[in-house]
Amino acid sequence: MSDKGCCDSVGECFFDYYTSKILVIRSKKVGTLNRFTQALVIAYVIGYVCVLKKGYQDTDTVLSSVTTKVKGIALTNTTELGERVWDVADYIIPPQEDGSFFVLTNMIITPNQTQSKCAENPTQASICTSHRDCKRGFNDARGDGVRTGRCVNYNDTIKTCEVLSWCPLEKIVEPPNPPLLADAENFTVLIKNNIRYPKFNFNKRNILPNINNSYLTQCVFSRKTDPDCPIFRLKDIVEEAEEDFQTMAIHGGVMGVQIRWDCDLDMPQSWCVPRYTFRRLDNKDPENNVAPGYNFRFAKYYKDSDGTETRTLIKGYGIRFDVLVFGQAGKFNIIPTLLNIGAGLALLGLVNVICDWIVLTLMKRKHHYKEQKYTYVDDFGLLSNEET
Ligand SMILES: *[C@@H]1O[C@H](CO)[C@@H](O)[C@H](O)[C@H]1NC(C)=O
Repeated sequence: MSDKGCCDSVGECFFDYYTSKILVIRSKKVGTLNRFTQALVIAYVIGYVCVLKKGYQDTDTVLSSVTTKVKGIALTNTTELGERVWDVADYIIPPQEDGSFFVLTNMIITPNQTQSKCAENPTQASICTSHRDCKRGFNDARGDGVRTGRCVNYNDTIKTCEVLSWCPLEKIVEPPNPPLLADAENFTVLIKNNIRYPKFNFNKRNILPNINNSYLTQCVFSRKTDPDCPIFRLKDIVEEAEEDFQTMAIHGGVMGVQIRWDCDLDMPQSWCVPRYTFRRLDNKDPENNVAPGYNFRFAKYYKDSDGTETRTLIKGYGIRFDVLVFGQAGKFNIIPTLLNIGAGLALLGLVNVICDWIVLTLMKRKHHYKEQKYTYVDDFGLLSNEET
């Protein structure tokens, strides 16, 4: 037996062999701490890893396809177009998109444009006093056409450069308020969503098996009464996102229709159902609302009887609905189960480390415990050699 402390040199240390000895500490404090930490670890493994995170399951993320069909009729009465009825082919642009659809809600119409010459809209760059201010052939990316080199009257007070363009030019005005296609709030959209979890060979669609044809022809989604109906009124979508449809319709915007498929495939398949939530995706920060909404231009072209090409230019404002599908499915699998059991056991080992540390560094009688915990034994073989 030796009463020297730790090893004196590295070489000596290297040839020490450590074996464990059971030291039972009869202390209520340490005993309680030990059981308490063990209970914490077990609660974590069972409560969080197993029950909450379903650590015994293998998981897979969803693959999905989405198709949409909008229905509804709108009536407008404008000076440019007169009384006019708008149907799906008029207000859905383009007719078919991947996972999203655009509904025209408002517009600025400039009819009867032809390729001709007219005075540019007055801006800092286009206002002029003489022909010298207008360079012939110059074309400004932010302007309206190619300059002819002449300075002409825009109105009684302002002169601007003349351009070759589609004239008359579109006027710089705010979009109409209330929006032209205010009726769009009552349009409905059928969203068909097929999903697949390839790892588990599981397919499902959002038209659930309990929905029949006659229900589908008359239902409208409502969180309280018809939570499974895949037909949504546009106004409801916007209002669920806490927005006002008519306000949003003026400048347009982007809405997200989120379909979440979180499925526990250890449970009956009928429990695997889509959950719909709605969110506005574009920025409508009231503080810095520069360039709000969503708009683009398109035109319809005609040829007069005398052969001149004419077009109606439409600056269309509208709401784009993006259908976003996400989700995760889990099913029992032996590999993650074993991995999590292993991790749990390793954590239990950590309890000893923590208790040891507390006993050896924080307790009042730590020196006493240290003495008991480490025992140094010399090489008996060597000892007997020395004795002879
Ligand atoms: C939409 O439908 C509701 C109820 O059918 C009706 O009261 C409302 O006036 C309609 N909205 C528009 C803009 O026509």
